[in-house]
Amino acid sequence: MKTVILGDSGLLGQALVQHFCRDAKAEVFGISTSPKALPSSGAQLKARYVHIRLDVLTQQKAIKNLLLSEKPDLVINSIALADIGDCEACPELAEVYNVQLPVFLSDISAASGAYFIQISSDQVFDGMKLGLLREGDAINPVNLYGATKVACERKILETNPNALLARTNIVGYRGWEKSHTFVEWLENALAHRKEADLFDDYVTSSIHVRLFAEALSLAFKKRLKGVYHIASRDAVSKYEFALSISRRLGWDSTRCRKISMANSSLFPRRPAYLALDVKKFERATGASLPPIAKTVECLVDDFNARHGR
Ligand SMILES: NC(=O)c1ccc[n+]([C@@H]2O[C@H](COP(=O)([O-])OP(=O)(O)OC[C@H]3O[C@@H](n4cnc5c(N)ncnc54)[C@H](OP(=O)(O)O)[C@@H]3O)[C@@H](O)[C@H]2O)c1
Repeated sequence: MKTVILGDSGLLGQALVQHFCRDAKAEVFGISTSPKALPSSGAQLKARYVHIRLDVLTQQKAIKNLLLSEKPDLVINSIALADIGDCEACPELAEVYNVQLPVFLSDISAASGAYFIQISSDQVFDGMKLGLLREGDAINPVNLYGATKVACERKILETNPNALLARTNIVGYRGWEKSHTFVEWLENALAHRKEADLFDDYVTSSIHVRLFAEALSLAFKKRLKGVYHIASRDAVSKYEFALSISRRLGWDSTRCRKISMANSSLFPRRPAYLALDVKKFERATGASLPPIAKTVECLVDDFNARHGR
């Protein structure tokens, strides 16, 4: 099976490459501007994965030629302007990355006969509903990042009815020096005996990137079409999430300080309550999505592997 992963050096892209290279017959092409392929953790990755250094903003012809000539079975776009603050600071770039680029990739994937997956976000909601959010619930983004994800969903639904739009909230380690993920920030603070301020009124159904990659693989096998929530089956606040991780890793959890997002001056705004209902995905695939406890276990495994424990 041939898979193209756009954004192979990113948080999700790294997990997707690892996941899709497991198959003995896999051929995985990973694209990003990174000069290096992922560090090969074994012969498996080396033999089945090719990194192609391309800039998707300036080398669209090369991407088009690649997809039309290789005719992959599956294309997953994990490239985005994913930082909520960067989107607000550079709205034109956010539109290019989060709307125009995914629509372009979706169109070429359809023309090449590939199944296309676009990653969307829980930020399409306003976070006012204190209950599980279903796919059909009203969307009303409170920041520009969420607005670009809504525009992207709408355009792809119109132009590629076979595509999957996966709304999620992912967590994990990325290993970039230039910017840290939530988990990397938390580890930096708590493992080094600093304090971490954490919202107890910002609730998400965060899922570990490895578990999310597995779920996307299942979605591909079932050829799910349209919008699906793919996340942990329950939801907790950032404060509770951080407490669970720090207790499991033996960090001093008294350093997790409970604060309120509603009383903070956080900008851009985040929607407060984002518990995603994943039953549509579970019904369509016959599989259960994991609880947040499983995501915490994955993070503990990552931490131990990174520190040779
Ligand atoms: N992280 C979250 O909490 C979260 C939550 C919900 C949804 N999502 C969505 O999930 C998807 C994946 O997010 P992520 O956190 O994995 O993103 P990420 O870590 O920021 O990765 C983005 C990827 O895009 C590549 N890229 C950026 N500009 C490029 C260009 N001009 N040409 C080629 N490659 C380029 C980056 O590689 P180089 O810089 O090396 O080129 C990197 O591989 C996104 O759609 C995001 O909106 C993320």
